[in-house]
Amino acid sequence: MSRRANPNSPSPRRGHAPEPVPSGLISTKEHRMFCEFADTVRSSRYIGLCYGPPGVGKTLSAEDYARWPEQRPFVEMPHPIVDWFHRGANRSDWHTLLYTPLVNTPPGRALTELTVMSNRHAMLRARHIEDPRRETNLHGASSYTELVIIDEAERLTTRALEQVRDFYDRSALGLILIGMPGIEKRLARYPQLYSRIGFVHHYRTLTIEELTTVLSTAFAHLGLASPDATEAIAAIARTTAGNFRLVNRLLNQAERILKLNNLDLVTAEVIDAARDALVIGTS
Ligand SMILES: Nc1ncnc2c1ncn2[C@@H]1O[C@H](COP(=O)(O)OP(=O)(O)OP(=O)(O)O)[C@@H](O)[C@H]1O
Ligand SMILES: [Mg+2]
Repeated sequence: MSRRANPNSPSPRRGHAPEPVPSGLISTKEHRMFCEFADTVRSSRYIGLCYGPPGVGKTLSAEDYARWPEQRPFVEMPHPIVDWFHRGANRSDWHTLLYTPLVNTPPGRALTELTVMSNRHAMLRARHIEDPRRETNLHGASSYTELVIIDEAERLTTRALEQVRDFYDRSALGLILIGMPGIEKRLARYPQLYSRIGFVHHYRTLTIEELTTVLSTAFAHLGLASPDATEAIAAIARTTAGNFRLVNRLLNQAERILKLNNLDLVTAEVIDAARDALVIGTS
């Protein structure tokens, strides 16, 4: 029987804590469906709308699809072209831009930022597709961006949405707007934009079965597989209802409780204590 977990009693000894779910992306069914959706929007050059509750993985999927951690420094900051090549920036899977408007982005700013990013990207892509020694004509090159994903699209004001539609109309690219549930109703109020939406994707929480599989694999990797762990996994699945952000927060809290109580094993009791120490919203 494992020791009772108390979230507040410190302990001098540090036990074996479980790692939180690894920060690297796990290729879940939802993520794969997002990639399939993005491929379709990219090849059809339509507008796609993706919505889902907070913390399910929309941003992470978009970042992964756009290879954003690697690509971002090249398109968000000016780099001498020669640098791009020296730093291996000519990759064929860099076909997508990810743009996140700031809260209260002033009208006009979204359009300017998108244009600057896509021009830089066009240079980068043109250099990849064509002979890198050829000079690139920026006007003609803008079609090299195949897809723009706008995350947190509800931050765009009516006027910014109008500008984004204009940007889309003038470029031969696909566009994905990502937002929270309800964004589809807001966009329906702008018939010109709405009529261009070809695909809609609802990004859902993980099913309990898939979350259980993901966690069992993670626990097995960490050498924590045991009947106690199986119960703990069931408790995590129950508590989080398949929401990834909640899983991370719960596991971080569980790690803290293990340390405080000098425990080695993640059990359902530890998870329950972790849940009690968390403020858990409805989604
Ligand atoms: N497929 C995944 N593999 C590993 N971790 C994931 C995965 N999906 C989401 N996460 C984790 O869950 C957390 C929330 O993910 P993300 O920020 O992408 O959610 P979101 O749907 O964009 O939420 P919001 O609507 O609040 O912006 C992140 O900390 C991320 O690391
Ligand atoms: Mg997000």
